[in-house]
Amino acid sequence: MRVALFDSHGYDRESFAAVTAGFGHTLTFLEPRLTAVTAPLAAGHDAVCSFVNDQVDADALERLHAAGVRIVALRSAGYNHVDLAAAARLGLPVVRVPEYSPHAVAEHAVALVLALNRKIHRAAARVRELNFSLEGLVGFDLHGKIVGLVGTGKIGRVAARIFAGFGCQVLVHDRAPVDALVAELGVRPVDLATLYREADIISLHVPLTPATHHMIDHAALAAMKPGVMLINTGRGALIDSRALIAALKSGHVAAAGLDVYEEEEGVFFHDLSAQVLQDDVLARLLTFPNVVVTSHQAFLTREALANIATTTLASLAAFERGQPLAHEVHARDVLAARA
Ligand code: NAI
Repeated sequence: MRVALFDSHGYDRESFAAVTAGFGHTLTFLEPRLTAVTAPLAAGHDAVCSFVNDQVDADALERLHAAGVRIVALRSAGYNHVDLAAAARLGLPVVRVPEYSPHAVAEHAVALVLALNRKIHRAAARVRELNFSLEGLVGFDLHGKIVGLVGTGKIGRVAARIFAGFGCQVLVHDRAPVDALVAELGVRPVDLATLYREADIISLHVPLTPATHHMIDHAALAAMKPGVMLINTGRGALIDSRALIAALKSGHVAAAGLDVYEEEEGVFFHDLSAQVLQDDVLARLLTFPNVVVTSHQAFLTREALANIATTTLASLAAFERGQPLAHEVHARDVLAARA
């Protein structure tokens, strides 16, 4: 198949090139994000492969369809940026990579906790300036602290194991049963109010759905323990960023580690170092010494990239052979998530 990969970067080229031989597809790596405006670039291709900050809305899908595209393959697990109803109307199947490395994401969440707690970002910058003072760098033992995990799917479960390994008490909240995790690790299933009230560290691992959009708002933040550390490697819009800024300014939230941001589209994944940042909310977040922002990089390990490339190319090969698509997402999945 002829496949156009939107929003592709050097690491995509490398990971796809390493596994493409066995599949016989022809790959075109495009730098622009997929939007209604850029969709015509896919003309002459059978498939498009898109990433998390593409705008796969009805307009873009209609233009892809008109350009002859027959399938959309997401290089991501999340599909909140895709109009699945429009895709179904146009007869365009949408496939994703449901699991490429829960370890990559969970380990990045833990990396954010460790960096913030031990102030690695500040210490490294300080030492470079030959400032070897320890003032202001006091952290805490993770051992014995209470970690609250919101979402215990593939990533949340791995995070639970890692935090249990540190000797943390792990509280979990999920709308699905968590019995297996309770049996495995002795984690404590709780409602959100209890998790907010008791946890010293809260890490978000739920998908973005209408039910989880801005779940961390003023009220949720106020319900959290003073001095809480908040980690988000899920999706930016789980958190109301303005509410978070207010909670950081008051000191109620002691630290925040954000790998995702609700307005990251068009900013994250790009080198804007020579430009003036137009997003005042992100600019404010970047001024806090107790906030670490990474550019949606939790997935970015060699293992995850290899799995993304292999699963994507295998889905396209299955489509070409008329075989069932194991990783297809349907509009009904979104409806189920809303329920
Ligand atoms: P998953 O589908 O295995 O787990 C999600 C869990 O959230 C499920 O157990 C589900 O029952 C629970 N859940 C859903 N809605 C809920 C609600 N309203 N209340 C309570 N629990 C709810 O997904 P996985 O693989 O663990 O990924 C989680 C999210 O992480 C993805 O949806 C994606 O948005 C994000 N992600 C971020 C990456 C990054 O690079 N920063 C990379 C990969 C995923």
